[in-house]
Amino acid sequence: MWHCVGPDFWQGAAGAGLRRTGRPDTSLSVCVPRTDACYLSIPMNQNFHHVSILPDACMDALHILPDGVYVDATMGGAGHSLRIAERLTGGRLICIDRDEEAVRNARERLASVWDRVAVVKSDFREIDRVLAGQALAGADGILFDLGVSSPQLDHAGRGFSYMQDAPLDMRMDRQQALTAAEVVNTWSREALRRVLFEYGEERYAPLIAAAIERERDKHPIESTLQLAGIIRDAMPAKALREKQHPAKRSFQAIRIAVNDELSALREAMEKAMDALNPGGRLAVITFHSLEDRIVKSAFQAAAAGCICPRDFPVCVCGQKPRVRLVGRKPILPGPQEIADNPRARSAKLRVCERL
Ligand SMILES: C[S@@+](CC[C@H](N)C(=O)[O-])C[C@H]1O[C@@H](n2cnc3c(N)ncnc32)[C@H](O)[C@@H]1O
Ligand SMILES: [Zn+2]
Repeated sequence: MWHCVGPDFWQGAAGAGLRRTGRPDTSLSVCVPRTDACYLSIPMNQNFHHVSILPDACMDALHILPDGVYVDATMGGAGHSLRIAERLTGGRLICIDRDEEAVRNARERLASVWDRVAVVKSDFREIDRVLAGQALAGADGILFDLGVSSPQLDHAGRGFSYMQDAPLDMRMDRQQALTAAEVVNTWSREALRRVLFEYGEERYAPLIAAAIERERDKHPIESTLQLAGIIRDAMPAKALREKQHPAKRSFQAIRIAVNDELSALREAMEKAMDALNPGGRLAVITFHSLEDRIVKSAFQAAAAGCICPRDFPVCVCGQKPRVRLVGRKPILPGPQEIADNPRARSAKLRVCERL
């Protein structure tokens, strides 16, 4: 895990009287820069651009206190981060991403608010350790904007896209060992079928898994276009008449498996709710039904508290509600946002508040 903290971060934090749990935990970090010199070796990426989804709704949802502590758990292009930090005077923002390119880009994008920001390269499932590493006891608001960023999708070399040829990679964190090539070439046919069916909701999963097995027996499957071709050729003619690209669902599924996205989300939801200070808000943007189901049920379970079977006459578990749901229905982007940014089409924002 890397920690990149603006040079004035702790000076300001002390001034703001932020709750600290002790000394920052430097055992987690590869790099804890306190001076500008540390950044000089990191090249800035000029093409790192991502249009933030539901920007105003997210700011409203977080109820930002100028002197509060906030976490952007999926910093990406730092668009939401910048908006949060601009609302802080005395408060602090911790930005997390597991993608090193996103972390590199942050310094430039957040230059105007750098005195109140700390950027940490980490998996958001470690949000508790990240806060502890910053010597913070809790947060007043936490934002998750799930999935991949536009630069991850658009930079061919990352291997996420079925439209551009590249080695089969799909890792958000390029220090991680597991790649898409390993999944496609070494996982059993049954494991592939399950991934495609469960994470891609791909009804032709058995046909595609069988085709992958046949092809890799002849030679390794190494590139995105090679895989996209195998998927397309495995599908029946009627599936090829659908509007979306034939490889879209399978690529989503393999990406979710490579990055272990759903387990990370389940773990992170629990930890994020626990990390909130009383009255603190958790806001989560999802992009497909698998993610949304996890968020919705985590929020509902935390809002219900009691986990006793329904036919118990009295509660014996003693568990109390931890949060209240803010709005029964998710917030959706309007037609203008969808027209301006097609990626917003499937977005859903759910919000809860710590009791
Ligand atoms: C949709 S983008 C966020 C865009 C950002 N909100 C903005 O306004 O630019 C999602 C980001 O979350 C990161 N991410 C996804 N899963 C993660 C995880 N488990 N831990 C840390 N970062 C993760 C990705 O690397 C990506 O950069
Ligand atoms: Zn109970």
